[in-house]
Amino acid sequence: MCGIIAYIGSKRAESILLEGLKRLEYRGYDSAGVAVIEPDGHQHVCRAVGRVANLESKLEAAGGFKGSVGIAHTRWATHGGVTEANAHPHTDDQLGIALVHNGIIENYASLRTYLKEQGHVFTSETDTEVLAMLIGELYDPEQGVDLEKAVQAALREVTGAYAIVVTCEREPGVMVCARKGSPLLIGIGAGEYIVASDASAIIAHATQAITLDDYNVVKITREGFRTSTVDDVELSPKVMKLELELGEIELGAFSHYMLKEIYEQPNSLRLCMKGRLDKREGTVVLGGLEEFSKELVRSKRVILTAQGTALHAAMIGEYLLEDFAKIPCECEYASEFRYRNPIIEEGSVVLAVSQSGETADTLAALREAKSRGALSLGVINVVGSTIARDTDAGVYLRVGPEIGVASTKAFTGQVMVLTMIALFMARRRFMSPEASARVMAQLEQIPDLIERVLDTNDQIRKVTEKHVERDNWLFLGRGYNYPTALEGALKLKEISYIHAEGMPAAEMKHGPIALIDDGMPVVFIANQGPQYDKVLNNIEEVRSRGGHVIAVATEGDKQIESLAEDVLYVPDVPEALSPLVTVVPLQLLAYHAAILRGHDVDKPRNLAKSVTVE
Ligand code: G6P
Repeated sequence: MCGIIAYIGSKRAESILLEGLKRLEYRGYDSAGVAVIEPDGHQHVCRAVGRVANLESKLEAAGGFKGSVGIAHTRWATHGGVTEANAHPHTDDQLGIALVHNGIIENYASLRTYLKEQGHVFTSETDTEVLAMLIGELYDPEQGVDLEKAVQAALREVTGAYAIVVTCEREPGVMVCARKGSPLLIGIGAGEYIVASDASAIIAHATQAITLDDYNVVKITREGFRTSTVDDVELSPKVMKLELELGEIELGAFSHYMLKEIYEQPNSLRLCMKGRLDKREGTVVLGGLEEFSKELVRSKRVILTAQGTALHAAMIGEYLLEDFAKIPCECEYASEFRYRNPIIEEGSVVLAVSQSGETADTLAALREAKSRGALSLGVINVVGSTIARDTDAGVYLRVGPEIGVASTKAFTGQVMVLTMIALFMARRRFMSPEASARVMAQLEQIPDLIERVLDTNDQIRKVTEKHVERDNWLFLGRGYNYPTALEGALKLKEISYIHAEGMPAAEMKHGPIALIDDGMPVVFIANQGPQYDKVLNNIEEVRSRGGHVIAVATEGDKQIESLAEDVLYVPDVPEALSPLVTVVPLQLLAYHAAILRGHDVDKPRNLAKSVTVE
């Protein structure tokens, strides 16, 4: 989603801002822009539709910016189309105030009407321009309302979500930032500060950062900073160490982040498990949950909630918690859960699954359940993210930063963590230490087994080549691998733009079977498991209608070769852990399909890595 990068210091801001924008590209965007206070004392703005490279060429053609205070943005359109006029930074119409904004100003329409009545002239369709104009309207240094105070006053008037950075040519050595609902970090360098919506844009310059809470406003100068609330109550800043390494967010030898992250899975899962499996005691050690272990043991129901890929992991979590911990569970899209007046009884636990920890719908669902008395847990990747901070307790994935928009290693990390949470609860409820230790030993094998799947990449590419021209695909699975089928279909749609549907294999004959015609690719997850024979029946149904079956099957299964057009083999894994390996060929299949169709895997059209609006 939209990205923010800003710089104040003694270096030339332009190159730092452009480098930061490139690091933010992975979040998804459709236009970009930069504003710098130039040596002539004026705020200069340059914006372009499309890639950051377009902005870079435009800046180059105009001779570039020389100043050392500037703000920049990648925009993912919400209010108003993808045009240069709607791109950020936005300015007020008089004073050289410039602003970049992530989030949505919900009451922008009434503010806009008011500001028009005051004579302001708008040049864009965005909610952001309203905020720039409002700050300008309130700015009155002669009356003691400087930039910091004007920002505070404006934010007291707005509802919605924001992370903003504001500069003003009348106060050229000042930058004011604020947040509510959307993330923002201030990297502390030597005599310089780098503000960004994402740590990946900061780590090249700073190892420490100030984190902002909702309604915090920070005024930054080259000499220091002041943190306050929107009501001007001074606060002590919260400083955190940035743990990311530059190598973790760089491509290295891989052509795309998605491929890099697919190949990272054996190691990311080893890190995810590290120090958490105590096989001697048969217990899972999850520091974040210890404090609430009694509540978890006594809990009566778990509600898992998420969006996108994280929802598919949560669905697998539902099976795991029911199987292992024997606890009633339900799993639902956060966007639906929050609006259906959910019934939260005593003993309910809400468990939010999110890679970014910033997904607006997931956050809102979590808050809704919390306000009705549920204990809230998070399964999150990004440390210190909003959901991670909002929950009572949680478990981090520890799989490292995920840059690829199509989520891969976060998915397997989420499933792994949910397995560990299920064991954590199961051991304290019904499961014997021996049974728990057995599952742990199987879990520890998973990274090696994924490596075996990765070794079949060439074959997966060849199978993809055979079917890539087809525009409609089905993905079918049962039980634990029904969510895997959904995930396989989502991966294919997201990056190759091929229409794909995932569903329970048995559901096919209730309608979707009408779609099957000669040569339609139908991917079956047909590993050896309790429902194997049933899946074979479903395969027959597809074959007899001319569909081309691609089966994900267990190594050594010869029977399936006579039924499927193509077989992608995975090692034998107990059913409950099988999605951790069966999903890997589907990730690679989607990757190859996108490459073969000539798409940019890491920058899929219309998608954002983290969706911070409803
Ligand atoms: C977006 C991303 C998906 C992701 C979903 C949930 O739609 O494109 O890849 O699965 O958001 O994101 P989260 O950060 O909450 O896991």
